Amino acid sequence: MKDNLQHLRYWEESVEIETFKSWCHKEQGWKDFIIDEIEKDEPRRVLDIGCGTGHMGLKIVSLPYFSDKHEYVGTEITDKFVKYNKNQGLTCLNTDFLKLPYKDRHFDVVICLDVMNHQIEYEDRVLELLRVTNKKLIFSFHLNWVQYPYIEQRRGHIHHHLSLNKFLTFLKTRANLGLEEEIRGVSFPNPPISKYGPHGGWHTRPQVIIIEPKRD
Ligand SMILES: C[S@@+](CC[C@H](N)C(=O)[O-])C[C@H]1O[C@@H](n2cnc3c(N)ncnc32)[C@H](O)[C@@H]1O
Repeated sequence: MKDNLQHLRYWEESVEIETFKSWCHKEQGWKDFIIDEIEKDEPRRVLDIGCGTGHMGLKIVSLPYFSDKHEYVGTEITDKFVKYNKNQGLTCLNTDFLKLPYKDRHFDVVICLDVMNHQIEYEDRVLELLRVTNKKLIFSFHLNWVQYPYIEQRRGHIHHHLSLNKFLTFLKTRANLGLEEEIRGVSFPNPPISKYGPHGGWHTRPQVIIIEPKRD
């Protein structure tokens, strides 16, 4: 596969940790929704792909059910975020997710929030996540950026590559191949809805996609 990871240097080279945190650590209803999705299953092992500076990780390891018998693993391609996460006590692997060092279905829940839309080569990465997922694989996209296919230039980096429509088409194609993944979409409209609002501004209209693979 011809995959150029250079554009993923954006966070390492152009974003300060405090700036990143001001974007990603905001309280946002759709993230609470995902925490609720995790908590109701009480998964033993959770994988957080592209975990940033650990906003979700800190929430997950603080859930009342979570004990030292449970496992949280974050992954990051941005070195300084890996160091930051380790310093705050989170397990964090410095890796892309084309090939993960885990056996099939190792993780009960895998989350991958606002990461897929940055990938040029996404198909094999999605398949790898499906491989290590036991029960639930959760993605998020933000419709204001990725509803339509487009590429955004940001400080010399091509930033968003994958549109939601293209991604959904890929998932459905996989389902047509007989894998029978169950795909559930949850839209968060702007203005806010119910107990998961409010949200707005920078992160508007998140689309959450939950895949619960049917296993034999
Ligand atoms: C928009 S941020 C989202 C961070 C976090 N998931 C959240 O929702 O707050 C995207 C993150 O994914 C990481 N990332 C992007 N591509 C990656 C890849 N192929 N492997 C691992 N991490 C990646 C970036 O370093 C960045 O921290």
